[in-house]
Amino acid sequence: MKLYILNGPNLNFLGIREPDHYGSTTYEGLLAMIRDHATEIGATVVCRQSNHEGDLVDWIQEAYFEKADGIVINPGAYTHTSIALLDAVKSVSIPTVEVHISRVEEREDFRKISYLRPACVATVSGRGVRGYLDAMDLLLKQGGQSECK
Ligand code: DQA
Repeated sequence: MKLYILNGPNLNFLGIREPDHYGSTTYEGLLAMIRDHATEIGATVVCRQSNHEGDLVDWIQEAYFEKADGIVINPGAYTHTSIALLDAVKSVSIPTVEVHISRVEEREDFRKISYLRPACVATVSGRGVRGYLDAMDLLLKQGGQSECK
């Protein structure tokens, strides 16, 4: 099973930015956790991070051409603004899980809106960096079947 793990703006600042919301694990630490977990569950992972919306669109399309079985995406603030990311996920019909490290439902009103959610098979929120591993497990469980709307 091949999974794309995509992170949006400011997630390269994990461990530096707002530890009360995002904890103390660095982005490199997160990648190590993801890679270890991938080995445990027998998955191959492609991990990417960008502060630019178009890069995330390009990588969602790349996942299609590379025949990925699933996408785990934390779009950061683009969650709350990006129709382009919604369209990209809908375009590729790859099962996608949206991840938020913090519990977005309990923060500012603007964080309660996710443009991406309707195109995702699940959302994992408020589980800290462990949420990425939960998202990988969800995709493994559903065995790469396309359930994207
Ligand atoms: C986030 C929540 C977003 O509202 C925020 O803009 C982020 C991170 C999270 O992981 O909790 O950058 O997606």
